[in-house]
Amino acid sequence: MCGIIGILGRGPVAEQLVDSLKRLEYRGYDSAGVATLEDGELVRRRAEGKLKNLEAVLKRQPLAGHVGIGHTRWATHGKPNEANAHPHAASGVAVVHNGIIENFRELRDELEGGGATFASETDTEVVAHLVNSFLVKGLSPQDAVKAALPRLRGAFALAFVFKGYDDLMIGARKGSPLAIGYGDGEMYLGSDAIALAPLTDDISYLDDGDWVVLTHTTAEVRDAKGDVVKRDVMKSGASSFVVDKANYRHFMAKEIHEQPEVVGHTLARYLDMASERIALPMKLPFDFKDVQHLSITACGTANYAGYVAKYWFEQFARLPVEIDIASEFRYREAPLRSGDLAIFISQSGETADTLAALRYAKEQGLHTLSVVNVPTSTIARESEVVMPTLAGPEIGVASTKAFTCQLTALAALAIAAGRARGTLTDADEAKLVHGLIELPRLMAAALTHEPQIERLARDISKAQDVLYLGRGTSYPLALEGALKLKEISYIHAEGYAAGELKHGPIALIDEKMPVVVIAPYDRVFEKTVSNMQEVAARGGRIILMTDAKGAEEATVDSMVTIMMPDMPAAFTPMVYAIPVQLLAYHTAVVMGTDVDQPRNLAKSVTVE
Ligand code: AGP
Repeated sequence: MCGIIGILGRGPVAEQLVDSLKRLEYRGYDSAGVATLEDGELVRRRAEGKLKNLEAVLKRQPLAGHVGIGHTRWATHGKPNEANAHPHAASGVAVVHNGIIENFRELRDELEGGGATFASETDTEVVAHLVNSFLVKGLSPQDAVKAALPRLRGAFALAFVFKGYDDLMIGARKGSPLAIGYGDGEMYLGSDAIALAPLTDDISYLDDGDWVVLTHTTAEVRDAKGDVVKRDVMKSGASSFVVDKANYRHFMAKEIHEQPEVVGHTLARYLDMASERIALPMKLPFDFKDVQHLSITACGTANYAGYVAKYWFEQFARLPVEIDIASEFRYREAPLRSGDLAIFISQSGETADTLAALRYAKEQGLHTLSVVNVPTSTIARESEVVMPTLAGPEIGVASTKAFTCQLTALAALAIAAGRARGTLTDADEAKLVHGLIELPRLMAAALTHEPQIERLARDISKAQDVLYLGRGTSYPLALEGALKLKEISYIHAEGYAAGELKHGPIALIDEKMPVVVIAPYDRVFEKTVSNMQEVAARGGRIILMTDAKGAEEATVDSMVTIMMPDMPAAFTPMVYAIPVQLLAYHTAVVMGTDVDQPRNLAKSVTVE
């Protein structure tokens, strides 16, 4: 994850910028840089690799400016080198950025057509030249940023400083977090409270769509509509390096909201954003052409991620897949073929049942690949190939951001398998990868429905039982939704394939039983509408998670609809996971349970 720091200081800021960047090293990075305003000019120092390399550059060529920005970069567009390191600059502005600008290519073509010359391969440099294109037209820095932001599509956080303006810094947030820090005659911007901890513990977080104009003594925040708004100032608890809750009540809430950002980082690990192609960073010790059967094994939420991926491997790569709960896999003595592939999914990388299944598969001579969130974990170390998810530390026992990052890594692998087996054309790959690149923005859009879901949770909290229904890849998501609800609110819930309703669960339906239907508009939507009519006919209360077309087509009354953004059908589980997680979270909050540490549960089940 990239790290952002900005300081409107009363003295030299270069050292403070680097000190704050050190607090962000936990996020992972591959280059770093700072820019300060020196006698009205923007001067940059950048270096590939770790911060000690940047410190060596600053030792040789110190910066004395009192206004500056800094950045630790996790490469998305362009190799990790000095030329691609932030800050990026055009003549009148320097900028640091966390996230993805999806439409950077069309903007770059437009700007180059207008005479801009680029020095990097990054999407960030496009932002610098876009803002600069308004500055050269005579707009003020505030108006230049205000004109540029609506042109940017994607999920991002930005911090700007301007040539000739020593009492101005501007920040903007859309999908990736950004905080304001309040000092004594100084102002700060940071990716999180940890970055700001050496400078202040008086902070406020921008809301999605906000942007802020800072002077040494003022902070004017405007929302997405351009209205001036107030954001609460609070005491940050991040004075020492702790993974803190930021401004959230629970780690689970923070981790749900981190998903646009961390899914973006997992995408950056497995895609080439510039060419919009899959670019796996690791050499596979097998050829998918030679794999005749794929086993996917995991527990709990990770198992449901694997179940979603089953649909992708079978559709994209025409590869037969068996999905196993890890505690069953090695005891059912499945007929396995040496040389085939077994995938193991685990957030912790320490789950005993999954580890035992991995060892069993290796004894059977299978290739083993693990998708883990802890690359140093036992499952990772004992696998032939590891695909890390870049969710960052997941503290809440209920898995959320790890789940969507697992889906992201698995989707990239399934596309790679399709390309290797010749079942996906170039055009198929480009279409699917473009759909993946849109995910951070779509997930950020899904998060805006939280107030509606919070209200709905009060109703759900009164239920004894809840049923979740879905078809296709929404079926494993229905299973995951039921698991999320029951493990943190202690309300009994079951997930079912919607088509199974008439084969038993319909006996449960009455006016006391909420039924959550996960149904983006797709080729089987009408069949799900029939299921909803069957539920409504028996007084069941329906909560429908769908998109605009689905809402239009659903001919069932007395229903609550949670409207999701229109998106490619293939990857709806990453986006529809958001309302599923939020519903469980807010229901648990109403129930007053220990959301981050639910009773009887452990974050990692290291015993069988
Ligand atoms: C998910 O919310 C639960 N905490 C649990 O089912 C979890 O997914 C399961 O124990 C697997 O853990 P792992 O991903 O660390 O292997």
